[in-house]
Amino acid sequence: MRFLIINGPNLNLLGRREPELYGTATLDDIEKMLAKKFPDMKFEFYQSNSEGALVDYVQKGMGRAFDGVVLNPGAYTHTSYAIRDAVAALTIPVIEVHLSNIHAREEFRRHSVIAPVCKGVIAGFGAQSYELAVRALLEINQ
Ligand code: DQA
Repeated sequence: MRFLIINGPNLNLLGRREPELYGTATLDDIEKMLAKKFPDMKFEFYQSNSEGALVDYVQKGMGRAFDGVVLNPGAYTHTSYAIRDAVAALTIPVIEVHLSNIHAREEFRRHSVIAPVCKGVIAGFGAQSYELAVRALLEINQ
């Protein structure tokens, strides 16, 4: 099985960025952790700070080449109708993930414009949110 793991703005700074909120693992560490935990799966990781580039990449999931998407849209979670529409166009399952529990934070973070078109949302487990999302995708694809 092949999964796309798509990360939005500022997630390239993971490890150095507000570690008390987002932990000390880098995106590279998360990629290595997934490869180790799921040796039979193929992961394609992507990160961009730009909304259009993220839309382009979500569209990559439209071919039949992937079995699911794990998407951390970063701050675009709360604002991007363009990413929402791209996700809505996908027929493969998309799991929205967040390192932090967005519902326990500032008011503006408690609403996701993307979540309603996702299969589900996992938030608040740090780097493990990604692992839990992959487990969910495996369950769905069984
Ligand atoms: C985040 C939560 C967002 O509100 C924030 O803008 C991020 C990271 C998370 O993973 O907890 O960039 O998506």
